[in-house]
Amino acid sequence: MSDDFGQEQAIRKLGPGKLVIASHNPGKVREIGDLLAPFGIETVSAGELDLPEPDETGTTFIANAELKALQAADLSGLPALADDSGLCVEALNGDPGIFSARWGGETKDFGIAMQRVWQAIEAKGPDAGHGAHFICALALAWPDGHVEAFEGRVDGIISWPPRGDKGFGYDPIFQPLGHTISFGEMDPQKKHAMSHRADAFAQLVAAVF
Ligand code: IMP
Repeated sequence: MSDDFGQEQAIRKLGPGKLVIASHNPGKVREIGDLLAPFGIETVSAGELDLPEPDETGTTFIANAELKALQAADLSGLPALADDSGLCVEALNGDPGIFSARWGGETKDFGIAMQRVWQAIEAKGPDAGHGAHFICALALAWPDGHVEAFEGRVDGIISWPPRGDKGFGYDPIFQPLGHTISFGEMDPQKKHAMSHRADAFAQLVAAVF
């Protein structure tokens, strides 16, 4: 990261103590808490602190992760970590992208969301490529407004029909490069070792501890 004068600035380190996980999703809070426990970091969730959920008004994954982390840090007076993730299909110019959760509609039905992705690719014609990637942005913010952000990625292809019930979201139609099974068919431990989230966490851990 460089400052206003183009000077390289050191990445800010995270000391021991309490960290807010800026999410209201209990599954995500637990997963992130487990990942941070070995570093002596005690976590508390935005839900436990009764913090509001900000509107995700950013136009990138990083911008959305940053606005969630900054708001939680500002309101709690503690460092805060937020993530934002989604599926980007190359033939669809990166859609559903930051709107990945919304493609499932009000009921968050990912059967519908996956069908929408496949129909949109088919509508592009027989030459449309099936390349896609998942992105996970992580932002760590401090109450003084400082923020460090990291973006992880895993590449693959969209395959149809959906396969497997081990994952969530778009996992049944995402086949990572170099593999013949979808994320939905993959053992969760194996997915977690190679996913966009694992990539982003590895970058964060290497940088801030
Ligand atoms: P958010 O990060 O909670 O905003 O969720 C983004 C959306 O992207 C999720 O609802 C999923 O649909 C999708 N997504 C993100 N990561 C994954 C993944 O690892 N597998 C499948 N779908 C994912």
